[in-house]
Amino acid sequence: MHTASLERPNAAERAFIDQVIISRTGHPGALLGILESVQERHPNKYLPLETLEYIAAQTNTPLSRIYSVVTFYALFNLQPQGDNTICICRGTACHTRGSRNLLQSVRLELGLGLEDASETSEADKTLLTTPDHKFTVRTVACFGQCAMAPVVEVNHRICGHVNERTLQREIRTVERESY
Ligand code: FES
Repeated sequence: MHTASLERPNAAERAFIDQVIISRTGHPGALLGILESVQERHPNKYLPLETLEYIAAQTNTPLSRIYSVVTFYALFNLQPQGDNTICICRGTACHTRGSRNLLQSVRLELGLGLEDASETSEADKTLLTTPDHKFTVRTVACFGQCAMAPVVEVNHRICGHVNERTLQREIRTVERESY
């Protein structure tokens, strides 16, 4: 179960949200579009609980409905995300080609510790952010690129046939670019 973070939207954020609501209301998928735009604008790419409350009030939508949308779609985050995201596919094709080892080595590399038995129970889902907010490591069920297994997405760029060495190289490159 996700838990939302608390962070009250300031005046500029409220003005942005109001503007997004005005421009989206009446269009198909309005709520999804509003949530996506608001999350995208947040420097840590997430939706704090108080932002969800504000959107609920301004759109006359029950908070419970907004919350269920946010928890249903994997693209929404209720916790601050790192500056860089490494997303490892845990689908069958990638699993049989070693994605679990890739996940473990990334976790070790970034000081996030090894996966324990309790984490594997919830559909093998991982979502971890380093304490300095530089990296978020997450897993996905399938990228739809199984022929390139194992597949890892680094900052929204798909990398195929990844091994521990190439993944480490990717991480180093991202680290260099972000300092
Ligand atoms: S199982 Fe990994 S891309 Fe499909």
